[in-house]
Amino acid sequence: MTKHLLSIDDVSRDDIDSLLKLTDGSADLRTRRIPRSPALRGKTVAWLFYEDSTRTRLSFETAAKTLSADTLNFSVNSSSVNKGESLRDTVETIGAMGVDGIVVRHSCAGVPQRIANWIDAPSSNIAVINAGDGAHEHPTQALLDLYTATKHLGSLEGKHIAFVGDIRHSRVARSGAAAFAKMGAQVTLVAPQTLLPPSLEGWQAEATNDFDSVLAEVDICYLLRMQLERQNAALVPSLREYRAEYGLNQTRAKRLKDSALIMHPGPMNRDVEIAGDVADHPNAVITDQVSNGVALRMAVLFNLLAVTDDDDATSAAVTDDDDATSAAVADDGDATSDAVTDEMDPS
Ligand code: MLT
Repeated sequence: MTKHLLSIDDVSRDDIDSLLKLTDGSADLRTRRIPRSPALRGKTVAWLFYEDSTRTRLSFETAAKTLSADTLNFSVNSSSVNKGESLRDTVETIGAMGVDGIVVRHSCAGVPQRIANWIDAPSSNIAVINAGDGAHEHPTQALLDLYTATKHLGSLEGKHIAFVGDIRHSRVARSGAAAFAKMGAQVTLVAPQTLLPPSLEGWQAEATNDFDSVLAEVDICYLLRMQLERQNAALVPSLREYRAEYGLNQTRAKRLKDSALIMHPGPMNRDVEIAGDVADHPNAVITDQVSNGVALRMAVLFNLLAVTDDDDATSAAVTDDDDATSAAVADDGDATSDAVTDEMDPS
């Protein structure tokens, strides 16, 4: 895997397979009586969130704390940004504090890449993780969605996923379509013409305006939130009309295959893209997505931060599926990962 996680392009299919396997170990650790591993003890992760977030930020924080990393909270509202500090100066200041990772969310596409370029001195081991940049990418969301879908459906090869809604402004759809296509799934984008991307170039997906025509065929029906904060013009006549054509209501849900999953990245607009009772449907795996998000982000943080370079990464070890506890880094070159994790959990 590359040094940073900025885009789904940074991970190959093999990288994804190993990340999902590592996520199994992380999920297992989270079920323990004391869900803690020392895997990232001594590492520091800074959160650089320039845009609102509840679940992604809490998910990353929980993941980092579960792996015993220290965290630095950067709050835009009470920071020097309000005194006119540039993004570059902020990043350089945080970098100079000796952090090992920066998790960044920004409303402008490309910001995580810029930050990675600024800090990519040969001597720097800081990993940058994109937690959502504008309407561009949200790679950890795509990876947790792959994990969730795989847990329920097995291999995604040949499976059909429809992303439904505001594709044009959705970083979730952009990263998700690329990730699902990488795993061999067929991807269909479903939206009114005004909410489809202006061109499908670069998307490994087909598109339709007719939601009803794909309902009976899909294995995953993935609803997206209307990104009103990124729209600068009325792109649908009204939310009521949008809901009538593109909302997943009970009537439409009944036409899905019995095994079809209903997914949504949250936050949901109940009764707009998804009817309230459909959100609570037995095939809706929306809370699984949230809980798998923590395990997946543990795997990502471990992968990017635990092994940095030859001198300090002498003892990184990840347990395997034999008695698979979790990811754990053996300390001082003697303890094995199992011993360390067992020590954390005497049960
Ligand atoms: C995002 O950050 O893009 C969210 O997970 C999805 C949304 O805001 O609709």
